[in-house]
Amino acid sequence: MESLISLVNKIQRACTALGDHGEESALPTLWDSLPAIAVVGGQSSGKSSVLESIVGKDFLPRGSGIVTRRPLVLQLHKIDGEREYAEFMHLPRKRFTDFALVRKEIQDETDRETGRSKQISPVPIHLSIYSPNVVNLTLIDLPGLTKVAVEGQPDSIVADIENMVRSFIEKPNCIILAISPANQDLATSDAIKISREVDPKGERTFGVLTKIDLMDKGTDAVDILEGKSYRLQYPWIGVVNRSQADINKNVDMIAARRREREYFASTPEYKHLAHRMGSEHLGKFLSKHLEQVIKSRIPGIQSLISKTIAELEGELNRLGKPIAADAGGKLYSIMEICRIFDQIYKEHLDGVRPGGEKV
Ligand code: GDP
Ligand code: NA
Ligand code: MG
Repeated sequence: MESLISLVNKIQRACTALGDHGEESALPTLWDSLPAIAVVGGQSSGKSSVLESIVGKDFLPRGSGIVTRRPLVLQLHKIDGEREYAEFMHLPRKRFTDFALVRKEIQDETDRETGRSKQISPVPIHLSIYSPNVVNLTLIDLPGLTKVAVEGQPDSIVADIENMVRSFIEKPNCIILAISPANQDLATSDAIKISREVDPKGERTFGVLTKIDLMDKGTDAVDILEGKSYRLQYPWIGVVNRSQADINKNVDMIAARRREREYFASTPEYKHLAHRMGSEHLGKFLSKHLEQVIKSRIPGIQSLISKTIAELEGELNRLGKPIAADAGGKLYSIMEICRIFDQIYKEHLDGVRPGGEKV
């Protein structure tokens, strides 16, 4: 199954290289048929913290205001060995081993597209992280929903962000990771508000409750975590991320994960839920879910790829002569990926029993 997630990752990268990233495109929107997990929530709800604890690394830009101004497509690849590194699609031959430089490059690449204007742009940044400590997963970090524009930003930014977030999560193949902070009334959660619009039955929304440690004394999150406050098809997952003080003190991720585990195991209210709480559980749960979704979508993805191949080949035939090196290279690269996909799909079928269960 791992090969399927990484193959979908490759197709996603190829789609972006071809300019097909969910926006209007001349190509069939292959991207739209690929499952991915988008992280949504209000500003400071804990989106970056959740992503970083799933990855187990500090690498996202931080600060007040609208920090995430372009979608970040984050592909996690589990590898053997000790070395961890990151690669950006726009810097194909550069391996980052210092994650502080990854953070800087995300900021610089955001500014390159938006011209430091604090505007937002729907053009994604693609980042791959290779590590023995991750699960195979593709996550899309989106700008935080906000209520007011700040100095230097147009008033339209509030609606622009909402529309950009909606354009990703309204696609039926998008799995929504809806982040709500436990120290605010769930009824005011931006994440729940927007995910309910596009997924009213909660069939593809995963509720994540952050900041459980910051709730008022005498209150707890049991009703939410047990699905009694807002019902979703999948169970809610509570997390305790690092506080700002922890970040300032450079508390490392491994220590933070351990403390999070201890928090749920030792708090009387949450003991009975401890086995399905925390960032580590969240990462594993999402990876397993993504695998299942990909498996169920394989026939649809495959027929779309066959159609894409046929159309591209038709186009090449019509063009007759070799086309511009750049465009041609891109066409072949996606066709190559489509063929690999085809091959892996067949291998995958060979490994599946008639009942549909993988051997
Ligand atoms: P984002 O704007 O949604 O990406 O939010 P961040 O992840 O940057 O978090 C905003 C602030 O809340 C940071 O100072 C985090 O340290 C803090 N924070 C996030 N989650 C938690 C949590 O579960 N517990 C505590 N105590 N602080 C948290
Ligand atoms: Na923020
Ligand atoms: Mg953030």
